[in-house]
Amino acid sequence: MNDIDKVREYFPHVKEKIFLNHAGVSPLCTPVLNAIKEFLECRTLSKGDFNPESAKKFFAHLINAEPEEIALVPNTSTGLNVVANMLSYPRGCNIVTADLEFPSVVYPWLRIRINLNLEIRYVKNVMGKLRIEDFEKAVDDNTVAVVISHVEYGNGFRNNLEEIGEIAHDHGAFLIVDACQSAGAVKIDVKRQNIDFLATSCYKWLLGPCGAGFLYIKKDLIKEHCPTFVGWASVKREIFETADLWNNTELTLSETASRFEIGTPSCLSYVGASSALKMILEYGVDRIEDRIGELIDYLIGRLEEEGFDLQTPKDPSNRSGIINFKISDPIKKVEELREKGVIVSARMNGIRVSPHFYNTKEEIEEFIERLKKM
Ligand SMILES: Cc1ncc(COP(=O)(O)O)c(C=O)c1O
Repeated sequence: MNDIDKVREYFPHVKEKIFLNHAGVSPLCTPVLNAIKEFLECRTLSKGDFNPESAKKFFAHLINAEPEEIALVPNTSTGLNVVANMLSYPRGCNIVTADLEFPSVVYPWLRIRINLNLEIRYVKNVMGKLRIEDFEKAVDDNTVAVVISHVEYGNGFRNNLEEIGEIAHDHGAFLIVDACQSAGAVKIDVKRQNIDFLATSCYKWLLGPCGAGFLYIKKDLIKEHCPTFVGWASVKREIFETADLWNNTELTLSETASRFEIGTPSCLSYVGASSALKMILEYGVDRIEDRIGELIDYLIGRLEEEGFDLQTPKDPSNRSGIINFKISDPIKKVEELREKGVIVSARMNGIRVSPHFYNTKEEIEEFIERLKKM
C-alpha cells in the first residue's frame, strides 16, 4: 500500500464520492472525527478540557511564525475585520486590492470608507493574472496596505506575495493576506513572503471543522496596535491567577497576538483543527503541494485534450490547487455531477475543480469521463 492509499483510509467519503471541491468546505477525516468525539465524551463526563492555546503551535509551524504571533479567530472574515479596524487611515490614504478578490477581503475597507475618506484601488486582472507591474503602479506613499488573497478563489491564481510585499514595504505599507485558499495546500512562510498580517479559516485545505481560524500578526506590530473589541482573552493572563476578584478597573492588554482575541473560542472546532493540522504537518506541506501539483498538471492536460478553455493562467509559478474552465450552464452541470457523486463548484461562469493531496488521477479521469457525457 503506498502512502496515498494509507491517507485515503482516513477519508471514508472516497468510497462513495469523488470530492474535488476543497476550495469549498472539505469533508472531515476520521482522525478529526475521533478527536472531536473524544473531546465531547470528556466534556460530557466532565473529565478534563482542551486548551485551545495549544493549537497555536501548529498554526505557527504551518506559516513559520511564533505561537505568540497567532490570535484565534473563528474565520478569515473576522481576522480581516480585526486588522482593518486596528490600522490608522490618514487623510488622502488608499488601500490596494484586486478585482479578483473574495468579497470578505474588500468589505472591511468598504465599511471603513463609510466614515473615512479612503480610496480603494483595484488592480485589474489581465486574462486571469494579477501582474506585479500593476501593483507597482497602484501602490504609492499614501498606501496603508495591500490586501490580497494568496490564492484567488475563482480561478486559483497564486499571487507572488514576496514581490507584492516588497512593493508594499518600499512605500511603508503593510501586506495583509487572506490565506483561506492556500493554507494547507501551498507553502507559506510569513518571513520570506514579507507578510505583516495573515488570516485563514481551517475548513478548506486545512481539512478542519468550521469555526476554527487564526490571525497572524507580525511580532513588531502587535504592541503598536490596539484592538477594537476587548474581553477577558485580550489581557495578560496573569490577572486571572488570583483567587480574589479579577481586576476590572484597568485594561492591561496582552503583549502577544492574544490582545486581539475577545472571549472563549469554539474548543470543539480547535480540537478538530489541531488533529487535521497534525496530519498535514506530519505528511508535510511540501509533499502536499507537490502532490496537488501533479494532479493539477494531469487535470490541465486532460481538460485541454478534451477542448475545454481554461480560465486559470497556466504558468506553474502562479498555480495552486484550483483550476477553472469555461462551460455553458455551469450551475446545472455542477448539480448533475453532484447527483452522480462528483463534487465540484460553479464559479466565474465555469467549473472550479480543487483536488487535495489524497485525490487520485483515477478520480480526475472519472470526473472527465462524466463531464464528456454531459
Ligand atoms: C479567499 C477566500 N477568503 C475567505 C473565504 C471565506 O471566509 P470565511 O472563512 O470567513 O467564511 C473564502 C471562501 O470561499 C475564500 O475563498
